[in-house]
Amino acid sequence: MTAKVAWRSPSNIAFIKYWGKHGVQLPKNPSLSMTLSKCFTDTSIVLGEKRTKKNIEFTFKFNSKENKKFSERIEEYLNQVSGQLSFLNHYRLEISSENSFPHSAGIASSASALSALALCLGTIEQRLGTAFKEDFYRRVSELARLGSGSASRSLFAEYSVWGQTEHIYGSSDNFAVDLKVPIHPDFKCLRDIILLVDSTEKKVSSSVGHGLMNNHPYALTRFSEAGKNLKEIIASMRSGDFDKFAFILEHEALSLHAMMMTANPWYTLLSSNSLVIMQKIKEFREKTKSKISFTLDAGPNVHVIYPAEEEKKVQTFIESELVPLCVDNKYIVGSIGRGPEMLVDEFTR
Ligand code: DP6
Repeated sequence: MTAKVAWRSPSNIAFIKYWGKHGVQLPKNPSLSMTLSKCFTDTSIVLGEKRTKKNIEFTFKFNSKENKKFSERIEEYLNQVSGQLSFLNHYRLEISSENSFPHSAGIASSASALSALALCLGTIEQRLGTAFKEDFYRRVSELARLGSGSASRSLFAEYSVWGQTEHIYGSSDNFAVDLKVPIHPDFKCLRDIILLVDSTEKKVSSSVGHGLMNNHPYALTRFSEAGKNLKEIIASMRSGDFDKFAFILEHEALSLHAMMMTANPWYTLLSSNSLVIMQKIKEFREKTKSKISFTLDAGPNVHVIYPAEEEKKVQTFIESELVPLCVDNKYIVGSIGRGPEMLVDEFTR
């Protein structure tokens, strides 16, 4: 048998943040994200005959080179899912990955990387006929979640919700779902400009960050607020109310960082230029009545969000006022994305 499968899977930016988890990668609150267009990972897997007696046999190349750190994370992940994916014990896997964005840009790559890998594994499972009854993307979202919580949300076009909430029919802590509600046309063509404020690697891993929510004095308030914010941000996206949207979006980003800064031990991932940029965006919005707003990941880079119809209005502001605050004037221009794309699907027996 020869088998090769490859997928391109995007990263996503959370509007309502997942921060705090329990059990086997289950979220403490529901989250909502926008799928991105320009930040993605391409991953391929070639299945072959096993050459050793090892339970799980694989090779991994990132940008055509061995990568020990990523390899270790993949080994841990494959071991974790091998109980559900029995083919992992019967074949050798040659895995290769590359990102559309520089790894050193300080952009979280686990969502695109783990979702691309899960898509390849889910496709192999399907082709080998070890069938499952569920919907393919739901199954893959669950597999991706086990690798990285935010990866579960990368499988859908436009917007996705992960975590059980009474406001979204069919939502679950186990997998993400497509946000199927009708939304205002402005929210169908949002732009996302990632300002690269600091390109050094994260000082604190996501897992450690989530862990700090376990004994956090404000945790319970935060988790219930996230649920309310999810409901309200969706309402603002339906009606096209950008004032309300900007308030919730920015409040979520600032709450995420406030949680880190009030944890024990505390830390901050913001840099001074992140603060300057946030303030400038606020002032520009107030002065020009623009629909611009920002959000942040667990890092110093700022995502600038606005509807495509404001391109002309905000472009000069971003280029003249914000880009000079980026490392080497670097930024990534992107927008709302269409979700994953299959690149190769070759199976012969
Ligand atoms: C701040 O998904 O990276 O980006 O599940 O431990 O892999 P793990 O964490 P991860 O956490 C993402 C946190 C966040 C917010 C979000 O994407 O919702």
